[in-house]
Amino acid sequence: MSALSFRNVWVEYGNQVVLERINLEIASGTFLSVVGPSGAGKSTFLRLILGQERPAQGAVLLDGEPFPAEPGPDRGIVFQRYSVFPHLTVLGNVLIGYEFAERKFSARLFGSARREAIEKSRALIDAVGLGPHADKYPSALSGGMQQRLAIAQALAKQPRVLLLDEPFGALDPGTRAQMHALIKPLWRDLKMTIVMVTHDIKEAFGLATRLIALDKTRRDPQAPERYGANITYDLDLTRDSAVPVLGFLRAQVEAQQ
Ligand SMILES: Nc1ncnc2c1ncn2[C@@H]1O[C@H](COP(=O)(O)OP(=O)(O)OP(=O)(O)O)[C@@H](O)[C@H]1O
Ligand SMILES: [Mg+2]
Repeated sequence: MSALSFRNVWVEYGNQVVLERINLEIASGTFLSVVGPSGAGKSTFLRLILGQERPAQGAVLLDGEPFPAEPGPDRGIVFQRYSVFPHLTVLGNVLIGYEFAERKFSARLFGSARREAIEKSRALIDAVGLGPHADKYPSALSGGMQQRLAIAQALAKQPRVLLLDEPFGALDPGTRAQMHALIKPLWRDLKMTIVMVTHDIKEAFGLATRLIALDKTRRDPQAPERYGANITYDLDLTRDSAVPVLGFLRAQVEAQQ
């Protein structure tokens, strides 16, 4: 079954059409990269999956079902700039992920449930390479470490779908490479569906199993808000036939930046 289904989805803000006619089936376990020019609607696309955005028309389904009204722990998100709690330690930040996952309303665990959550949090902190820093506050961490913490926090919620909005965009190339080496085995081991927005085609190609490009196919120079973006490319990166198209796509994306 598809983890996510988009059925003729349109998103509009006032009279501005942002996304139009999005039809897409994303199989469970896919690592999907989303590319496209700035303003094309990539973050909007992620917010639709998160349940923060409602389509003006059409429907987005999670495991064949319409979304519950509230964004739930089944979907986690990591933004370009870290989004961890500054007043909590590394351990506290990951623990709160578990608490949100288990206790939607009170967000507190007690006794053995708490001890178990602490153990799991420590294992996750080790997995993202922050073991020696579990008691530090985010302000004492580098950008790359904070981003790893944000990923650990999102994973603590054990989401079926992990959404990444240019998660490595603010990192230096070395840290970026470390993050790539981290995320791929996590995705494989946890059998998640990942949807990652990136401006970096090489990153998309290196990590993803599928790539879509969002862009406008119709333009009205007198009224740019009239038409929205839809899916202009949809590539299966597990097949060699995707390679020549990628070279072309890379040139296009780079020309747009
Ligand atoms: N809450 C909102 N209200 C009104 N317009 C919005 C809102 N959110 C996004 N938009 C508009 O929707 C369009 C798509 O925005 P979005 O942030 O999804 O683009 P993007 O592809 O993520 O761009 P970038 O690569 O710069 O992050 C933009 O024109 C933006 O101004
Ligand atoms: Mg964006």
